[in-house]
Amino acid sequence: MRIEGVDHVEFYVGDAQQYAFYLCTAFGFRLCGQAGPETGLPDQRSLLLRQGGVRLLLTSALSEKHPAARYTARHGDGVAAIAFEVDDAAAALAEAVDRGATAVEQPTRHQQGEDLAVTAAVLGFGDVSHRFVERAGDRDNFLPGAVDMFAPDPEQGDDLLSVVDHAAICLPAGELRPTVEFYQRVFGFSQIFEEFIEVGEQAMDSKVVQSPSGKVTFTLIEPVTDRRPGQIDEFLARHGGAGVQHLALLTDDITGAVRTLGARGVRFLRTPEAYYSELEQRLGRPELAIEDLRETNVLVDRDHWGQVFQIFTQSMHVRRTFFWELIDRHGARTFGSGNIKALYTAVAQERVTS
Ligand code: FE2
Repeated sequence: MRIEGVDHVEFYVGDAQQYAFYLCTAFGFRLCGQAGPETGLPDQRSLLLRQGGVRLLLTSALSEKHPAARYTARHGDGVAAIAFEVDDAAAALAEAVDRGATAVEQPTRHQQGEDLAVTAAVLGFGDVSHRFVERAGDRDNFLPGAVDMFAPDPEQGDDLLSVVDHAAICLPAGELRPTVEFYQRVFGFSQIFEEFIEVGEQAMDSKVVQSPSGKVTFTLIEPVTDRRPGQIDEFLARHGGAGVQHLALLTDDITGAVRTLGARGVRFLRTPEAYYSELEQRLGRPELAIEDLRETNVLVDRDHWGQVFQIFTQSMHVRRTFFWELIDRHGARTFGSGNIKALYTAVAQERVTS
């Protein structure tokens, strides 16, 4: 199968309207479609948001029959599907099942005139599925006939965020290696990075897998059980098992994005002052001004190819599970080990102070 990239991410949430309002006003997404009983989906209300190449589908159950009801009861609001753009959804499903994946949606055609979307899905990890999406005609017509598209308000939103750079997934101890093997075997991903991360007395193991196209990247993390229980254990307990801990959105102006989103109410994690005073000695001169980084709490690191700038938001969820990352790549294709430790240290600090 050829996985071109992330087509969209679907969240199951208690109230899609409220969730959409937050993402539009604070993160600059635009509302561009909706689905529900009036479009032939009697058990759900879905809102489609877009910014650059990032499409988010927010779905709430209107009855117990819809899987979002069970999902939100078990996990709270969270990522339910990460959809892959493919050239043949039925063939991708058959291939994935043949390699050991579990089918959760048989191929379904949505057609409206020349516009076509075929979807099918397999289980990924926990209660999160991977939907294969094949498109023809107008690719912006999200699910032709099933989602009513409307012209987004040009006054709203902005284009600070362009694509989903990666998703980070927390796994129970012991599941890291089998999950890496699953993505290699079923989807043809490669492992591109691994890191043992120590934060105080806690530790976690992380491996990064990526599609051959380079456009789908998952950071998989499991807690190390002979250390003190930490933030990964806490995520697993609060979320109720494996799930998406954060989604990283790519920007080409991270300090501008932090200032804009921060002014609209997005709360970012803070970085200790010492991080910036030691920065130049540790990494050389960053491509963004240290004063701007210090003021916005943005972290910098490098890999073999270049620099990478990152920051985490606080979680906006009542369970304090899912959060967002902004990432700005100046040549770096993978991750730098310094940032990963610094990012998770900031999370540990936030857990202590709030
Ligand atoms: Fe990340």
